[in-house]
Amino acid sequence: MAELIDGKAVAADVTEKVKIAAQALLDKTGVQTGLAVVIVGDDPASKVYVANKGRTAKACGFHSVEHKLPETATEQELVDVVEALNNDPAIHGILVQLPLPKHIDAGRIIQLIDPAKDVDGFHFINVGKLGTGETQTAFVPCTPAGSMLLIERILGKDLSGKTAVVVGRSNIVGKPMFNLLLAANATVTVAHSRTPNLEELCRTADILVAAVGRPQMVKGNWLKPGAILIDVGINRIDAPERGEGKTRLVGDADFESSEAVAGAITPVPGGVGPMTIAMLMANAVTSAYRAAGEEPPSF
Ligand code: GUN
Repeated sequence: MAELIDGKAVAADVTEKVKIAAQALLDKTGVQTGLAVVIVGDDPASKVYVANKGRTAKACGFHSVEHKLPETATEQELVDVVEALNNDPAIHGILVQLPLPKHIDAGRIIQLIDPAKDVDGFHFINVGKLGTGETQTAFVPCTPAGSMLLIERILGKDLSGKTAVVVGRSNIVGKPMFNLLLAANATVTVAHSRTPNLEELCRTADILVAAVGRPQMVKGNWLKPGAILIDVGINRIDAPERGEGKTRLVGDADFESSEAVAGAITPVPGGVGPMTIAMLMANAVTSAYRAAGEEPPSF
């Protein structure tokens, strides 16, 4: 039976470290970490995420700002908000919640964020720094950064001799995850919807990262016995067994069959999910340390 990787506990640990670091910076330099979250429109899932981010930022002692724009806001209105935040010295981190309404060019908005405040790590400068190993000055996207911390807790920082397979090639998870695992000396393969013999490939992995957005796709018989399974998926599926119209959250792996084969596994919910917000807080306080000319803590 696999060890359950408690993302909630690790996230609480990171958040506590962030809180202490933010207070230490404030005491030493008078700089209070400032995080701005921008949301456009009324997407219910986005509203929940943004509320969680604001609540956690306040719990960390940050100056926490939320900008809400209506669904009908123009691209120029959003540009103006981002530029004002870029120029605001009280703000060290800017996050524009995705997805944006269709009439707004999300790619353009992301590239307008000052790379030194891009706590999502989505700006080309930060993507390039991660790809070339400049992690001292980069921002790493929060979900892969959090997934790496969970892997580190089990295997340590050096993954020499380990094989890793990342299923999914998104810019937000798959590609940065590849770079992080490679930087930690793992031998990494990125698989995706066009990969032949996917199951066979997954069975070679000491570390399997499932980030495809397909509910319960990875099965226990896809796993090497003892493998570490990091399930990044958060999918809502119908759960008629809980009553009519009820739903539940599942990952990209089938938990029951995977748990029987894996050495360690992240549950959904309570695995990678809580790490994403914790790493956002870590990136924000890191940004404030850099802005103040201080050496940021490591998480
Ligand atoms: N929407 C869902 N996840 C994310 C994320 O990590 N960052 C942003 N900006 N939007 C998201």
